[in-house]
Amino acid sequence: MPFISEEESKVSNQFLNDGYIVQSINKLQLVKKIKYEIYYIINQKKPESEFDLNDFFDNFHKKIELSELNEIRVDLIAKLNALSWVRESYYEIAKEYLDLIVGNEVSMQLRVNLSIQIPNDDSSLLPLHSDTWSGDSPFECVVWLPLVDCYETKSMYILSPEESRKLYSSFGEYMEIDSEELFNKIQNKVNFINIKYGQVLIFDQGIPHGNRVNKTKETRWSMNCRFKGVFTPYGDKKLGEFFEPINLKAASKMGMKYQQPKISKK
Ligand SMILES: [Fe+2]
Repeated sequence: MPFISEEESKVSNQFLNDGYIVQSINKLQLVKKIKYEIYYIINQKKPESEFDLNDFFDNFHKKIELSELNEIRVDLIAKLNALSWVRESYYEIAKEYLDLIVGNEVSMQLRVNLSIQIPNDDSSLLPLHSDTWSGDSPFECVVWLPLVDCYETKSMYILSPEESRKLYSSFGEYMEIDSEELFNKIQNKVNFINIKYGQVLIFDQGIPHGNRVNKTKETRWSMNCRFKGVFTPYGDKKLGEFFEPINLKAASKMGMKYQQPKISKK
């Protein structure tokens, strides 16, 4: 019997069975602060009401041209990452669940990302993939934060760990087809994650996932950032280049600085 609480065991089993967890955020004021900041960066003024704010996000596609979207997104990512409180808040938002899934001594991706999927836009899709296929460490988790309610094609999809194992065991059969054809073969097995604003998703990026053209009438806004245990193996995304430890404990600092006494005579 592992020495973990009933709560941790429940969340941990859910993560291992489903490949993800969706949990309520207790520090919602931090997500709201990020939403206000995004609104402010684009509009150069504060929203007049909560309705104004929510309407702006869900109906963003009515306020811009598709051709402007990428520039807006890139500009927002740069400006959000220039504000040190954004990344710190991002960790704070997910911390209680990261403590259960990853640990309390973690490496965090240096940049927080933002994705904007407007209805019927096929230009910014993430085809079916696992990040581990392109060199990510299987010890990495993604914290995915919706800024609006996400459901059906307004959300992302993920395969279950069980289906993923089946797919991986016969992967050789699919070497000749592209990711769209692979998606067609497994589409009735993937789960579109139903997640509301005010909740946070943590998922295993080693399981196939992606998104489809957003066929709903609302724009999807979500943020994502990777976390892993500081001392777990790294893949292509290295410590220092891509990740940094954000909360090293004293004993780890002590161990990293330790040097054996020199025994050789001069
Ligand atoms: Fe991914």
